[in-house]
Amino acid sequence: MVERYQVAKADEMGENEMRSVEAGGQEIALYHVCGRYYATEDICSHAYARLSEGWLDEDDCAVECPLHGSKFDLASGKARSLPATQPVRTYNVVVVDGAVFVEV
Ligand code: FES
Repeated sequence: MVERYQVAKADEMGENEMRSVEAGGQEIALYHVCGRYYATEDICSHAYARLSEGWLDEDDCAVECPLHGSKFDLASGKARSLPATQPVRTYNVVVVDGAVFVEV
């Protein structure tokens, strides 16, 4: 069953910002980029690194891992470049009355 957790207020996260949040016991990276919010698991699928400490690619709507530089598509979670080959999990994000929720 999917549950909804508030993880931020919309007005406290500017465009091209990301942060680590916790929801439903999961470590999640929340992104505000490309005109909307995205959420993925925070830990890279290649090794132990936090995607929320990497770099946002606002032209590609992707995040680049800070450890070895793999890029992940924020909409699908797919790895777009090596060395990661496995996707990261994505989560649905909804904004209601100025509050940002992640569905876990
Ligand atoms: S830990 Fe992310 S690419 Fe290696």
